[in-house]
Amino acid sequence: MHLVLVARDAARLEAAAKRLRAEHGTQVSTLALDLSHQGAPSQLAQWLADAGTEVDVLVNNAGASLMGPVADSRPARLRGLVDLNADAVAELTALLLPAMVARRRGAIVNIASTGAYAPAPYVAAYAASKAFVLSFTQAVWAETRATGVRVVAVSPGPTDTAMNTRRVPGKRGPGSVADTVMSALRGRGPAVVDGRLNTFQAFVFGRLLPASAAARIAERSLRKAALED
Ligand SMILES: NC(=O)c1ccc[n+]([C@@H]2O[C@H](COP(=O)([O-])OP(=O)(O)OC[C@H]3O[C@@H](n4cnc5c(N)ncnc54)[C@H](OP(=O)(O)O)[C@@H]3O)[C@@H](O)[C@H]2O)c1
Repeated sequence: MHLVLVARDAARLEAAAKRLRAEHGTQVSTLALDLSHQGAPSQLAQWLADAGTEVDVLVNNAGASLMGPVADSRPARLRGLVDLNADAVAELTALLLPAMVARRRGAIVNIASTGAYAPAPYVAAYAASKAFVLSFTQAVWAETRATGVRVVAVSPGPTDTAMNTRRVPGKRGPGSVADTVMSALRGRGPAVVDGRLNTFQAFVFGRLLPASAAARIAERSLRKAALED
């Protein structure tokens, strides 16, 4: 598929584009944009329209995390996180979905997290923003089931990327998340968790345990990581 890559760092985007063009022979265009800024999703949609680009698959992957107690967090940083992780996902979905529905084909993949399934102390706003992504995507999935457009949330657990450099048991690679995205696109349901262990944990913390117990257990396990951060 031809690609449009969007992130803030223009040099890194261009390096990725160069590699993808050389390795896969695809057309790759890039746009350096801070998606947490107000109006950025509309700017992206306008840029695509001006270039005559029809989007077949939208992957809302850009995201940021913030670790530490909410009482010690800068309010503006919490807001920026929610603007990127939740608002931009909803806005881009709303901007690009109508054309897909009109064409009766296309797909939207929203990257959530296993943190979406239960409250997560010390990454409270991150987990809450991902709970938004999960719930929003499940609802849009139901709205669009008969339209020919596939809408799905994919939730990675701990994954070895720049966002998560801590040593965590059962950590997976980004390639496994990409494979899960591809199988989620071929599937039918509204939400998929990457990996069996992560799926089991999401089920236990999100469905079996009451939220109070899940939050207390997570608080104990995340406290050390939050203090070290
Ligand atoms: N790593 C994990 O353990 C883990 C677990 C569960 C879910 N996830 C989710 O997986 C997704 C990808 O994260 P990752 O682990 O690959 O993190 P990452 O290595 O930090 O990559 C984040 C990507 O988002 C872009 N980005 C960040 N802020 C942006 C902004 N304001 N505007 C536009 N682009 C922005 C970054 O590029 P620039 O910095 O150039 O903007 C980068 O390409 C995120 O949604 C994350 O929440 C990750």
